[in-house]
Amino acid sequence: MTLGKLVLLRALAPSDAESLWRWNNDPDVVRWMDAYYDQNLDGVRKRLEERGPNSYGDTLYGIEVREDGTLIGLVRLRDAKPETGRAELDIYVGEKDRWGCGYATDALRTMCRYGFDSMRLHKISLTVVTENHAAHHVYRKVGFVEEGRLRQGFHRDGRWYDQYTMGMLKGELR
Ligand SMILES: CC(C)(COP(=O)(O)OP(=O)(O)OC[C@H]1O[C@@H](n2cnc3c(N)ncnc32)[C@H](O)[C@@H]1OP(=O)(O)O)[C@@H](O)C(=O)NCCC(=O)NCCS
Repeated sequence: MTLGKLVLLRALAPSDAESLWRWNNDPDVVRWMDAYYDQNLDGVRKRLEERGPNSYGDTLYGIEVREDGTLIGLVRLRDAKPETGRAELDIYVGEKDRWGCGYATDALRTMCRYGFDSMRLHKISLTVVTENHAAHHVYRKVGFVEEGRLRQGFHRDGRWYDQYTMGMLKGELR
């Protein structure tokens, strides 16, 4: 478990399946997300049961609001390798009524601090659709900078969208 100001990051349990399943099937939540698959509730529960404990290469945490203990989303550092010092970050807040409360900002800061301090990472990278303005704003706010533009890297509802690749180096977290 890792503590932020507003949220705490904790391991997931099979009993979290209902929340994940609901978020995965909410078009507003998955609008700009790559790994969208329409899974049934039993499938999500099975995936959580079969998932081993977090490892250096794959750290997945649930985002829980400290004030009331509600699970509101997920954050993940994946593909971390000690020899490269790099990892990829994903985040989403699935409880829409909790958007705009500062929770993603705090979860990002907490996860990046964990990556740089505990995992000794040198760099954290991510990809975001250029039109996902809320996510792009939050990433910039905590210190990620654009490093490139992937032309038409994302397809949704018959349209292609560009993506930014963004990165943050150790010492750049704000
Ligand atoms: C993007 C997301 C993670 C933000 O979560 P959140 O908890 O609402 O974020 P915060 O409350 O910490 O911060 C939101 C910030 O975005 C800003 N914002 C909201 N909508 C915006 C928009 N359309 N354009 C620009 N900025 C916007 C808010 O003003 C706030 O900034 P501020 O603190 O400087 O005022 C959340 O909306 C989400 O999960 N969306 C769906 C999944 C997703 O897109 N994930 C990222 C995939 S790369």
